[in-house]
Amino acid sequence: MSIHAIVVAAGSGSRAGGATPKQFELLAGKPVYRWSLDAFRADTKVSSICLVLPAHTLDDMREALPHTGKIICIEGGRERADSVRKGLEALEAADDDIVLVHDAARPGLHQATIDQLLDALQTHEAAAPALPVIDALKKRNGANLTSLDRKDVYRLQTPQAFRVRVLRNALASSEHAFVDDLEAVEHSGASVALVPGTERLSKITFAEDFERVRRLMFPDAPSFRIGSGFDVHAFEPGPGVTLCGVFIEHEARLKGHSDADAGWHALTDAILGAAALGDIGDHFPPSDERWKDADSEVFLRHAIDLVHNHGWTLGNCDITLICETPKIKPHREAMRERTAAATGLALEAVSIKATTTEGLGFTGRREGIAAQAAATLIALR
Ligand code: CTP
Ligand code: MG
Repeated sequence: MSIHAIVVAAGSGSRAGGATPKQFELLAGKPVYRWSLDAFRADTKVSSICLVLPAHTLDDMREALPHTGKIICIEGGRERADSVRKGLEALEAADDDIVLVHDAARPGLHQATIDQLLDALQTHEAAAPALPVIDALKKRNGANLTSLDRKDVYRLQTPQAFRVRVLRNALASSEHAFVDDLEAVEHSGASVALVPGTERLSKITFAEDFERVRRLMFPDAPSFRIGSGFDVHAFEPGPGVTLCGVFIEHEARLKGHSDADAGWHALTDAILGAAALGDIGDHFPPSDERWKDADSEVFLRHAIDLVHNHGWTLGNCDITLICETPKIKPHREAMRERTAAATGLALEAVSIKATTTEGLGFTGRREGIAAQAAATLIALR
């Protein structure tokens, strides 16, 4: 007897209203569908997984997914029920096998739920996670309401687990598009077990559900982050250097594709780093002509906008400039003010320090300047 999973991810996510279907949006750093796919992958009892996808994503997804042999990708159908049918057909499943059918839009799947469903199938032909209804239930009839009895009324979630034979027969005899897979087997009189559902298994339906589900999945996630950045630029002949947005006349300038502002580059990396959004080179490749001689304020502001779009705001920053020359101290307050203006931080939240390396190393030999920065991000909620 083998255990299979079908993850339906072929919907268009129209109610969530994003540019891409909701199951491909990032949630806590992974595309939504990956959370439940990974939960099934990690379960050694599950021998095969069928991921049902929109046709236009198939090639890219086959390329992107780990080639473990455990996952097959197929094209979905018009309605969810069509996608489930296709998934079941694509799996090489025997009648006595077990299949778990799961919405990709429910990323909060835990091993414990899979285990409870499998336990329930020892004595039942189908099983699903369910939550009791807490709110009062009313049925509207024109201008009148009738109260419904909440007792024995449940909200059903997925995965829904079946003996393959039971689901196959139900799907074969049911023409219409049912809302979930249990609906198809209800009519067959199959015995159905309900196991405890959890709020974290909630479905992402509307745009606001992403944040709600993320919080349910990671209730202890801290509301702040810290990041660090480091940068070095070499001297070459020139009229002076730009550091933390301030031009300082000097016997040399800093070599680089942009204005080579090591202080703001380190800070940009610290901000990106706190949100785990890569580094300055990912966003502004030196090979791109657009960034030749660019003002580093552009990089800094872009990083701040980017983390803002990911739900963070800059809390404070602390930059250390490491060089023998030029002397930083006379320019320090101007640098703080420029940095506060560029980042939108209060002046008291911007620290700029300088140190030499006591004549040691490349900065000691006056070959260039190094900078390091730390930044905190505060969650916007
Ligand atoms: N689904 C599917 N094939 C379809 C329709 C839906 O595989 N033809 C999947 C969705 O990708 C989702 C799950 O079924 O994982 C639950 O459906 P729903 O929440 O309705 O998602 P969408 O249909 O994508 O969203 P909407 O109804 O808002 O368009
Ligand atoms: Mg739908």
